[in-house]
Amino acid sequence: MKRTIILLAALSLLVISCQKEVIKPGPSLGASFNGAFLVGAALNDAAISGKDAGANKIVTSQFNTITNENLLKWEVVHPEPDSFNFEPADAYVAFGEANGMVIIGHTLTWHHQTPNWVFEGEDGGLTDRETLIARMENHISTVVGRYKGRINGWDVVNEALNEDGSLRDSKWRQIIGDDYIDLAFKFAQAADPGAELYYNDYNMFREAKALGAVALINHLKAEGLRVDAVGMQGHWGPDFPQINDAENSIQIFKNAELTVVVTELDINMLPRPENMQGADIELNYENTIKFNPYAEGLPDSMQTVLTDRYAEFFSLFKKYGDTVDRVTFWGVYDGSSWLDNWPIVGRTNYPLLFDRQYNPKPAYHAVIKVGEVGK
Ligand code: XIL
Repeated sequence: MKRTIILLAALSLLVISCQKEVIKPGPSLGASFNGAFLVGAALNDAAISGKDAGANKIVTSQFNTITNENLLKWEVVHPEPDSFNFEPADAYVAFGEANGMVIIGHTLTWHHQTPNWVFEGEDGGLTDRETLIARMENHISTVVGRYKGRINGWDVVNEALNEDGSLRDSKWRQIIGDDYIDLAFKFAQAADPGAELYYNDYNMFREAKALGAVALINHLKAEGLRVDAVGMQGHWGPDFPQINDAENSIQIFKNAELTVVVTELDINMLPRPENMQGADIELNYENTIKFNPYAEGLPDSMQTVLTDRYAEFFSLFKKYGDTVDRVTFWGVYDGSSWLDNWPIVGRTNYPLLFDRQYNPKPAYHAVIKVGEVGK
């Protein structure tokens, strides 16, 4: 009898510990960096709806903030002068709320993914300053206003700087003048005074560009406008930026008393035509075998490079945890990354922490480890 009881007790302990094993939550990127910064990902429609169930599961279990990849860009949400397409954005915001996430809106004023009609006058040439300002105000007040109190932060202006830190001569600037940036921040602030407002750009590890961003943001602040953080997109590679350069820029922002958000992190593991850096989405090159060398899988040596890169970047972000508020990956897993199609269509890239089968890669475990250090 005694033996049976002991056996039964041992068995039930085994069952309980197995159950514990089953219900024990796995590691989470968001939880790992809790207290330092938020960790998030950019989402497409399939990840939001659950049509891509693997992506949906990664998002809900790993991240505490989300950014829309495309659905709030002007061409998607406001394709015609009098028609807004809010369905995908409504679903995005509802998904974020249902999962208690910090929800980011991307982006209000950009020279890409903006329909031609926005800049056109009646004669087919460029429109005039007053008309474009009115279109901008209507767009920003309608879109930001709809999600007032629900979208927590907005990329108000995207990629307004040249590499030397001067202002890009986009149609926004050509038609309105330099103060189009001031106006965008003014309209966003008026539409939702509670939302955070960001300036966002690529290649911010370059000192001249970082200094340009500081000058721009200081100007906006001097005009009485609010800028809550500067976004470093983080479309990086195995060989750039040097970690010192990334650190130098974060230090420049810190010295300027700016908060940093790393908004679009991915590491392009494929050869880059002309050794290009940055993220100009207009770039497009022909696909050849030379530029798609890992179609059958990433060699171990490159996997290690990716792992080490991610570990060193996250160590840097953690070191500046008082300055860095958020780190968002540009995509959820390798199979849905924009880098499979940019700047060359149809490649097999490996830029994120989850592979094509939705499994965590060695880089994932390395990043979690960085988060756990000192806890
Ligand atoms: C990219 C999206 O990921 C693609 O799906 C789309 O076709 C083009 O734009 N910088 C940005 C992002 O600010 O909006 C871009 O996103 C990538 C570069």
